Formats: sequence, structure tokens, C-alpha cells
Amino acid sequence: MGIIQSIWPGTTKPLDGKCINLELINMKKVLVVGGGGREHAIVDALSRSPQVGKIFCAPGNAGMTDIAECVPIKDVQVEELKAFAIENQIDLTVVGPEASLARGIVDTFKEAGLRIYGPSKAAATIESSKDFAKALMAKYNVPTAAYKTFEDYDEALAYVKAGSFPVVLKYDGLAAGKGVTIPETLEQAEADLKDMLLDNRFGKGKVVIEEFLTGPEFSFMCFVDGEEVVPMELSQDHKRAFDGDKGPNTGGMGAYTPLPFITEADYAEAMEKVLKPVAAAMVAEGCPFTGTLYGGLMKTADGVKVIEFNCRFGDPETEVILPRLDSDIYDVFSAVADGTPIPALNWSKEPAIGFVMASKGYPGDYEKGHAIEGLETLKADPSIRVFHMGTAAKDGKIVTAGGRVLMVVARAASLKEAHSKALAAVESIKCDNLFYRRDIGHWAL
Ligand code: AMP
Ligand code: GLY
Repeated sequence: MGIIQSIWPGTTKPLDGKCINLELINMKKVLVVGGGGREHAIVDALSRSPQVGKIFCAPGNAGMTDIAECVPIKDVQVEELKAFAIENQIDLTVVGPEASLARGIVDTFKEAGLRIYGPSKAAATIESSKDFAKALMAKYNVPTAAYKTFEDYDEALAYVKAGSFPVVLKYDGLAAGKGVTIPETLEQAEADLKDMLLDNRFGKGKVVIEEFLTGPEFSFMCFVDGEEVVPMELSQDHKRAFDGDKGPNTGGMGAYTPLPFITEADYAEAMEKVLKPVAAAMVAEGCPFTGTLYGGLMKTADGVKVIEFNCRFGDPETEVILPRLDSDIYDVFSAVADGTPIPALNWSKEPAIGFVMASKGYPGDYEKGHAIEGLETLKADPSIRVFHMGTAAKDGKIVTAGGRVLMVVARAASLKEAHSKALAAVESIKCDNLFYRRDIGHWAL
């Protein structure tokens, strides 16, 4: 937000739309949908655009109020978001969460003539239905684990009994990251299948049963517009709660970029055998993808294979990737929204690493409302970013308000330095109810 800095040097205080008529000086008004760390990172990247004059975020979070105006509309209130965009003459809307996309926010906005970045409801099926994604990969020969889909509990159980362990069970629908289990025994598999197919824990649906693959996982996100695929840098998420990849699965406890263990040949294989063919397949199937296509990939002994696709930016990967983007992200979002060529991207060579600070008890039950101290001091260091994932403002203080609370990201000349810097920043944050992993990046360090 160049103009803003020239008016208030050294600050990034957003302009009140009433003070300066943004249309007159042709500064853009952007609406970001969502309110977690991922959306905070998107808002942060947009705030660096010299074209962007005002950012709204719905519902936003307590950490971004110095660069965006939070709007009390939930990410799934599509009609309300549309009305807000029309009323406030928003130039471009950027969608974070899959829930908004699966509800067709992009279709609704486009029908109303509004510019929006994200996939249509039909294209979002690549994430919302595991069965759709697996069938697409099978049809277009995209490498992935062997699988079979079941609706009937007895048939599913018979298939599992005939196979080997561990086996991978995936509920075929959005399940807030909790729809995948990897039972090691028949007993456990039986219980999980009963949960998903008889007790309908996530609703009535199908289960995809997959072959268990091994190897390091990595996240490959691309800006996609039909057959045009522009890759972002690679990153890796850490899904388990505790050091040494122990404990329950979480939404992600940290991430880093780039990945030294992915060779140029692996990268080319991922682009040529996965990302580009899948983008082309979506066009051929009549549901061209526009937005961020996220390939959750694994480097196996038999080559790169797909674990999952997401139809949106990854969380927490986005929080380490976007701080490395030196190009103007408004141009990228605009190009995809308008169907014009996506500009070439410039990436900082500096690695970035981020530690998630989560409420004690997460991913199970946890308390809210614990005060967090030490955030102001970190704002002075331009190589550090603190993205808020689940906080609230209360009596002039920032307090915990979610399972994952903060993500502290540092950039430095090497991954090792970035690790030390991020860890020191994490340790300087005082709160009596947070925990974090210390070994983020261990695959690379
Ligand atoms: P998903 O939601 O499909 O990404 O699955 C969640 C996690 O389960 C992944 O990040 C992997 O760690 C693991 N997983 C999923 N599918 C497989 C598979 N076929 N083989 C081994 N691990 C898997
Ligand atoms: N980090 C995994 C995801 O965004 O789904």
C-alpha cells in the first residue's frame, strides 16, 4: 500500500475510505474472505502491493487490524459477502477457505459481475470429493495410491480384510482435516469404518480405501487459470502435534520453504506428471480450475505420487510461501480472475520457516481467553511475521481464541538461521496456555 506509507511514513495504517477517495487515485479495494493465518498472510502480501489502497477481510482476525478492516461476515455467508462487495465497490475478492468455495462463492460473485480469485464450485470438487479426485487421476494417468471407493460397510470391511496394513481410509467429503485415518490393525480399521459408514460421523457418505505409501510429503501450490499453471515455491507442513512427528494429527504445526530434498528432477516430474495434466484434465472435464491448486505430494521410491488435492492455499504453508513472493500479488490474482496471462513470479532466495503456537490440549479440547504478551516487540523486525490463526482482542489485549493461535515466521539467509530466529521469536512470546514444536524443518536441517 505505497500511498499509505508515503502519507504516514513508517506505518502501514490503512486509510479510512472516507478520508481519501480511492477511485480518484485509482487505488484498488480488495476483499479477502476468511479469518485465519492463511488469510492474514494473503492480506500481508496484498498490503505490499503499490496498487492496493484498502483491504477488507471477512471476518478477518485481531492480528491484521493495522493493515485491513475486519468485516463481521462469516466466510460461508455468500450472499452477505456479495452484497458487501457490491456496496463497497470492491475491485477484487480473494477467497481463502474451502468451505466458501464449496458453497459456490465464485459462481455467485461471477454471476453478479464481480471479480473474484478462486475456483468455481464444480472445480472445487477436486478437494471436496476424494472420490472425484481419485477418479480424475485414474482417468488421466496421474500417479497416486491404488484405491477403491465404498458405500457399503460390509463390502469395505471385506476389502480391508483381503489387503495389508497399515491401510488408509478417507471419508469422501469435507471433514475439517479429520476424515483420514491410517489403521494399523483390522480391529482399528473396523472401528473407523463403522464410525464413517454406519454411525455417519461426518454425514452419510462414501469411503475411499487407499494403499499406504511412504516417503517425504511436500506441498506444491500453483496459480492456475485453465491450462496455465504457474508454480509457487515448494514447502512442507508438519501435521503431527509433537516433536519427532509424534502425537495426533493437527491442521499443521509449522512449515518451511524451500525443500532441499526435492531435486530438480522431482520438481519437473511433479509439474509434468501431476500439476499440468490435472489442470488440463479439469478443462477437458468441463470444470476448468481457476485459483490456487494445491498438490499434496509424496516422493516415493516409485516417483512422485499424489496424496491429495486442495482447491485453495494451504494452511500453514501459505504463511511461509507468501512472505517470499517479491512480485505484486494483486497482479497475479487479477490475471487469474480476468483470464489474462499470469505474470512471471519473482521469489526471494531466503528460506522461511514458521512455528505454530497452539492452545494446550489442541487438537482436542482447549481453553480460550489466555492473554498473549510480547507481540508488539516483534513487529519491529522486518524479517519476522506473526500471523494470527485464532486470537481475539479483549480489553486492549490479544488473547487466545482457537486451537492454533499464532504462526511465527522468520526469513534468513539459511534455513538453519531462519529456524533459530523463528524459535527465538516464539520463545519471546509470553502466554501460559500455548505449546509448539521445536523441530520444524527437521527433514531439511
Ligand atoms: P489427506 O487429507 O488426504 O492429505 O490425508 C492426511 C494425511 O494422511 C496426509 O498428509 C498423509 O500424511 C496421510 N496419508 C494420506 N494418504 C496416504 C497414503 N495413501 N499413504 C500414506 N499416507 C497417507
Ligand atoms: N496444510 C494442509 C492443508 O492446507 O490442507
